Amino acid sequence: MAKETVLITGASSGIGLELARLFAADGSDLILVARREASLQALADEMAASHGIAVMVMAEDLSDPSAPGRIADTLAADGVEVDVLVNNAGFGLRGPAADLDLQRQLDMLQVNVTALTHLTRLLLPPMVARRRGGVLNVASTAAFQPGPYMAVYYATKAYVLSFSEALTEELGGTGVTVSCLAPGPTATEFADTADMRDTLLFRSGTQGADVVARAGYDGFRRGKAMVIPGLKNRLIALSVRFSPRPLVRKIVKALQA
Ligand SMILES: NC(=O)c1ccc[n+]([C@@H]2O[C@H](COP(=O)([O-])OP(=O)(O)OC[C@H]3O[C@@H](n4cnc5c(N)ncnc54)[C@H](OP(=O)(O)O)[C@@H]3O)[C@@H](O)[C@H]2O)c1
Repeated sequence: MAKETVLITGASSGIGLELARLFAADGSDLILVARREASLQALADEMAASHGIAVMVMAEDLSDPSAPGRIADTLAADGVEVDVLVNNAGFGLRGPAADLDLQRQLDMLQVNVTALTHLTRLLLPPMVARRRGGVLNVASTAAFQPGPYMAVYYATKAYVLSFSEALTEELGGTGVTVSCLAPGPTATEFADTADMRDTLLFRSGTQGADVVARAGYDGFRRGKAMVIPGLKNRLIALSVRFSPRPLVRKIVKALQA
């Protein structure tokens, strides 16, 4: 495989960190984006030393609407071409939509949806021009149904899934692939940030971030449009398609109450 440069958002912990390890292990150079610069730098030093790759760290808050443009400008100024974009950064919030802090909900839309779309729009055209590369977007099994008590989060992930699948079709035959990773509950910092640790959903079992990242990485390398890690998660996603919508809403509400 030709040497690639891979930009990963949300690489400071969880699934993004494990994806960074996998891309580093195949010899890819990395650009790591998140807010926690010290965590990114520690990972960068470790990856550079163990795999002899070049790693760039960009401490950016993706809830800032100007962050994607700044990232692209910095890359252009340094003459760095991105072959693979991994849009992984994201977070959730649990609680009634009418009660949750408005600014945090708007920040969630900015990080999970707008920054993902913005970065894709900025970095995709050069990939198409070079006729190689790809995008790996991290959605969630939340994408497949509405999520009472996490209404905005579920809606953001439905957007990511829809956007990714549409791009997959648009880019057919261009040499550029788009994959969507849709994990179920995963043991990362996500549940604490979202205040979900005590929900039935998370108490029913989680997958490891390394297992989820491996499924996403393998699926991306095989050019799969959608990857749902784990048989249980695949069965649930499938069953939702054949279940009455009101029933699905009630079940998700119970899982997240
Ligand atoms: N864990 C699950 O159960 C689960 C299930 C399905 C989908 N997902 C999705 O998987 C993705 C990764 O989450 P995770 O489970 O690995 O959780 P995590 O451990 O909390 O990691 C989230 C990552 O996103 C980054 N991030 C959050 N807000 C950001 C901001 N404003 N600007 C820049 N970076 C930001 C965080 O970095 P900083 O804090 O350093 O900024 C961190 O690196 C998310 O999109 C999440 O929605 C998670």
